[in-house]
Amino acid sequence: MKTATKSEYDPVKYKTPTGAIRSCKGWIQEAALRMLLNNLNPEVAERPDDLIVYGGRGKAARNFQALDNIIKALKVLENDESLLIQSGKPVGILKTHKDAPRVLISNSQLVPNWAHWQHFDELEQKGLMMYGQMTAGSWIYIGSQGIVQGTYETYAAIADKHFPSPPNPFPQVERGARKTLQSESKNPPLEGSEASSLKGTLNVSAGLGGMGGAQPLAITMNEGVALIAEVEEWRIDKRIETKYLDEKYTDIDEAIDKAQAYKAQAAAKSIGVLCNAVHLLQRLVERNIIPDTLTDQTSAHDPLIGYVPHTLSNEQAKILRQQNPTEYLERSYESMYLHVQLMLQLMDKGAITFDYGNNIRARAIEYETKNLTELSGSKNPPLGGRKAGLFPGFVPAYIRPLFCEGKGPFRWAALSGDPNDIAVTDEVIKKLFPENKSLMRWLKLAKEKIAFQGLPARICWLGQGEREKAGQAFNELVRTGKVKAPIVIGRDHLDSGSVASPNRETEAMLDGSDAVADWPILNALVNTAGGASWVSLHHGGGVGMGYSIHAGMVIVADGTDDAEQRLKRVLRNDPGMGVIRHADAGYHIAKDTLRENGLDFKDRLK
Ligand SMILES: NC(=O)c1ccc[n+]([C@@H]2O[C@H](COP(=O)([O-])OP(=O)(O)OC[C@H]3O[C@@H](n4cnc5c(N)ncnc54)[C@H](O)[C@@H]3O)[C@@H](O)[C@H]2O)c1
Repeated sequence: MKTATKSEYDPVKYKTPTGAIRSCKGWIQEAALRMLLNNLNPEVAERPDDLIVYGGRGKAARNFQALDNIIKALKVLENDESLLIQSGKPVGILKTHKDAPRVLISNSQLVPNWAHWQHFDELEQKGLMMYGQMTAGSWIYIGSQGIVQGTYETYAAIADKHFPSPPNPFPQVERGARKTLQSESKNPPLEGSEASSLKGTLNVSAGLGGMGGAQPLAITMNEGVALIAEVEEWRIDKRIETKYLDEKYTDIDEAIDKAQAYKAQAAAKSIGVLCNAVHLLQRLVERNIIPDTLTDQTSAHDPLIGYVPHTLSNEQAKILRQQNPTEYLERSYESMYLHVQLMLQLMDKGAITFDYGNNIRARAIEYETKNLTELSGSKNPPLGGRKAGLFPGFVPAYIRPLFCEGKGPFRWAALSGDPNDIAVTDEVIKKLFPENKSLMRWLKLAKEKIAFQGLPARICWLGQGEREKAGQAFNELVRTGKVKAPIVIGRDHLDSGSVASPNRETEAMLDGSDAVADWPILNALVNTAGGASWVSLHHGGGVGMGYSIHAGMVIVADGTDDAEQRLKRVLRNDPGMGVIRHADAGYHIAKDTLRENGLDFKDRLK
């Protein structure tokens, strides 16, 4: 495979510059350079030798020659020009203007009829394309912290919904909606939402990669026990080194016993077990041990590169993937089918089960459609027959009400490289939003428990109105010299208004508009028009080829008046697209958010 290139990452040549002196012609170009190199920093990237940042084969640049040319281009790029990146390769510099994005990126786009892995693989083999995942190819990945906050929010929402203490008076209402109900009633916040936790629960999952590595920490931050299967030992060790994971086991039964003991003690502990997810779930079923929550974060979105079949050891998998990809894919699909069936068995016995955005449900259904339907001649095979009863995706189950408020993973990094700059920004956020108790709790826990990887960075979920306030406050910090260099602000593509992904972010939309991809395209266009520093449009992130279209944006707070105007526009419009999209689909929380923020289009027509 093309991705398995020989080791070429040179830590000296590609070291991320830090400090207040820049080598590019403007801070925006410099920010793009630093964030690109930060994505590939071995502390941050999963496999820098292959230019792979995270998420199976999510890359920051197509190959080393392309990387070198991007670096050169950013250094010569003028303040009224834009660099064009086509699937990880720089292809041109065109005249634009000072408020235009300095970099415009399109990754992994395929015409819909060709939008599947097989065709993508052919193009990648020819060196014509690169898979950008989400923040890998849009140069705003900040290591596992980025996903810790989202995973923390998700598990907090699960605790709120399923394990409230005292009992949740709105058991059918989701976390964000509940918050809105509270604020609408003008009553004091319900204690239950603050006190909910995963204390005394067993939470099972698999995959300790770039994103999945956040699971154990997010679960213990919510006071639960995490038991996570992982086939690669170095990944377990890496999570222990960075304090995201507490313990490693190589024997499945010992790991289960220990997890059960921690559950009985209501201890907040995490265990990584070196085994295939299928084997862990088989053993749980055999021993009739039912997890309280169950999900999966193996890279099932990518059956060839991301998922390891249970019929192969990790070493055998590496060899077969190279030598016989067709057989590998057959085994991978067969394994994912069994994996989903085991999850369903545990769900039927009471485990709260959800798809965590890796598209494993779709893989199982694809397998079934291709094989079992043909073999049995049945029109109603086991999974298809219970399609309505398959476990839900995490977005409709827990996150959508937050999206309706324009909330999502807002992140920033200190280009100075100085951790104290992030401490300064943390204080600003605390002062801006003191009433947001869960944000205060997150900032405290993040400071205590999260080791920075690469450039110091922070993430928290902020909504409509909040992001623009934070952005302007950061610009002021730079202007007044309270931080040592500009701050770069971005977000994940897993966000309120920037993604169409029918098996994940836009699953089960109220109006059935799950697959409508005009929204992320409008998001990229409006961020370009508003003056984001770099804008990217991707295909296939999170869930694989053919399953998603999504957009990224990054904006630099360099302390100038121009930056202030751009920040005001972009950080209002970007979440605004999410609120508009959800209001258009009929969500009441989004309609209220539109009105509260002066975004209601109908008001303009009066
Ligand atoms: N829910 C979210 O918010 C969210 C966000 C981003 C990505 N994702 C998805 O989560 C998945 C994981 O992302 P990542 O960045 O951690 O990927 P990654 O490729 O870095 O890590 C995947 C891990 O799974 C392990 N693995 C593969 N098959 C296995 C098996 N059968 N049993 C046990 N371990 C196995 C691999 O060894 C690897 O460590 C991807 O599909 C990604 O698209 C979800």
